[in-house]
Order: sequence, then structure tokens, then C-alpha cells
Amino acid sequence: MNILGIETSCDETSAAVIGGGRVLSNVVSSQRCHTGFGGVVPELASREHERLIVAIADAAVTEANITKNELDIIAATAGPGLIGAVMVGLSFAQGLAYALDRPFVPVNHVEAHIFSPFIDEGAEANPPEGPFVSLTVSGGHTLLAVVQPDLSYEIIGRTLDDAAGEAFDKTGKMLGLDYPAGPEIDRLAFSGDPFFHEFPRALTSHSQTSRNYRGNADFSFSGLKTSVLTYLQKHPASFVENHLPDIAASIQRAIVSVLVEKTVDAAASRKIRSVSVAGGVSANSALRKTMKSACDEQGLTLHIPAARYSTDNAAMIATLAGLKLSRGMKPEHRYDTSPYASFEAAASGKVRLK
Ligand code: KG4
Ligand code: ZN
Repeated sequence: MNILGIETSCDETSAAVIGGGRVLSNVVSSQRCHTGFGGVVPELASREHERLIVAIADAAVTEANITKNELDIIAATAGPGLIGAVMVGLSFAQGLAYALDRPFVPVNHVEAHIFSPFIDEGAEANPPEGPFVSLTVSGGHTLLAVVQPDLSYEIIGRTLDDAAGEAFDKTGKMLGLDYPAGPEIDRLAFSGDPFFHEFPRALTSHSQTSRNYRGNADFSFSGLKTSVLTYLQKHPASFVENHLPDIAASIQRAIVSVLVEKTVDAAASRKIRSVSVAGGVSANSALRKTMKSACDEQGLTLHIPAARYSTDNAAMIATLAGLKLSRGMKPEHRYDTSPYASFEAAASGKVRLK
């Protein structure tokens, strides 16, 4: 069975084909038109998706070495995301499904990230047989969930303010870095000292308050943002320039150590043996390394997607559609799914099979 996945929730236009459970193609175009704006401009994102979506979908079909008529199912992100951006991919996908007379499967973008660590290029996506603790960290979301083999999940923690990716992007912007700053902080931190400055780690055992928050699964990164701003205001520009890698490494350590502590604690306290990390921030090299050591220490199995499946991509959309079908979902010839902007509007705690 060939599934075409379409993803346009933010600033990546992507299409992928999964055939027989394998990734046959995954074409991703990252928008450059937002450079200089300090973030994604929704109107520009929608227009860019509109300009590229047909060519990207065609490229994914061609690269998979099939024709459009050999597509059996069409799937697309229905949310959460920038509503105009989601609408472009969702309308295109439903229109294509209607024209080809194929069933359409709407996919929740965050749920697709949750299962992205199990995309295996050479084999069918295969989540573990028991429950796992999933950390999903992107530009828009930071959440911890316990996921069951039937694809149902319980959210046990989430950010109370900024997402982890946002913490990277906004503190990076203060350092004068372009959007998205996460990859650049990652790169700078390689030559920096992560212990150069102690930035706050909210709601953890390291929080600078009288309370020890160990066991709390929620996140907060707004204090880090304020702390970086104050730190930069207190130091002359030349000092900041000379110590850019050290400051970047210290910010990165503050974010990463919170993510690792909470994820490993959540698994250990529930006696769950598998952990996964997904979403754009899971491309971060310090997070990958630190999470791996912490999991090894606790005897936990760690699942992280290949870097190309960490950031937004359509392979994860087609993969989740395939997983739903393998769990008994009956795909429908319905083309009236409406886009949604927020995770809360759609998250049921159970991946929707219908
Ligand atoms: O999942 P994603 O591509 O889009 C959303 O759904 O938000 O995540 C994008 C986020 C951005 O905040 C970006 O800065 C961050 O992922 N990111 C990274 C790295 N690569 C991407 N953050 C830290 N280190 C990286 N290497
Ligand atoms: Zn995403």
C-alpha cells in the first residue's frame, strides 16, 4: 500500500511516500523567506506553501518511482500549526484524494512527531511493545506523554509558557542569531564551556528556590529568557561577543538538563523501560548525547529519530497514517476535514483512528 503524506503546518513544505511500510521518498523544502523577521511570518508561510506544494508532491511521487494512480491513501497534517499554512496542505491533499477517488486520513502533527522515532527507512515503523515515555520538543510544543502500544497516550507534563525550541530561538535572537537559532546555538556550543554561567532551570531539583520540584513533569522556560536578557544587559557587548560560544553552551545546558532530568524521572518513577525524544529540538547534539548517557545509566532504551525526521517532515505524517491503518482504522472517502490551530483543540489522549 502506498501512502502520500503532506506536511505544511509551519515553514517546511513537505511530501513523502511510504510504500509497504517503508519510506520511498521524503521531500522537504525549508522556507527562507522569513530570514530577517526573527520568526515565521504566517502570511508569507502560506503563500510559499501554495507556490511549492504541487511541485513538492510531484517530486515525492517521482522519487518514490511510482505514478499518482499508484497512491492508495492520501494523508495530511490537519493541525496544530499556523492555520493558513495548514490549510494549504490540507486542502491540496483532500483535493488530490477527491480527484483520485482515494480515502483521506487527517493527521495530528504533534502525534506524528511522537511516533517519528520509529520511522525506519528500511522497515515498517515499529513502536515498542510496551509503554514508552515520549518527550516531544519543537518550536511550538514541549510535552511529556506516556504512550501505549495501541497508540493511546496520556499527557503527564507540558510547558507552562515557552516551548523548548522557542527558548532556543528567543535566547538566540538576543545573542543576535538568525531564526531558527536552535541549530546555530548547537553549533556555537561545540566550542563553548557549558559551565561558564549557571542559567536557571525551572521546576527541577536545580531550581533556585527553596522547593525541590523533582517529580514535577511540567516545564517553564520564560524565566530562562528573562535571565539571559538580564545577563546580556549586565555585560558589555565586547564581553558577549568574545564569549558567545560559552554563553550559547550555558543556555543549551540549562535547556537540555531540564529536558533530560524530567524525561528520565518520568520513566523511572513509572517503571517504564523505553524513552523517546522527538520534534525539532531532538536534532540537538547535546540533547541526544546527554539523554543517551542518562538512559544508559538507568538501563532505559532510547529512541530518537534520524535528524531528518526530527524537524518537520511528511514521512512522519504518512507513517502515522500507516500505523493507524495497521491498528484497525477504516479510511474514509471524506474530504471535509477542517484545519485546527491548537493541540488542545484536537488532542484526545488517543490517536484518532477515525
Ligand atoms: O519540529 P520543528 O521542525 O517545527 C515545529 O513543529 O515547531 O521544530 C523547530 C524547532 C525550532 O525551534 C528550532 O530552533 C529547533 O526546532 N531546532 C533545534 C535544532 N534543530 C532545530 N534546537 C536546538 N538544536 C538543534 N540542533
Ligand atoms: Zn513540528
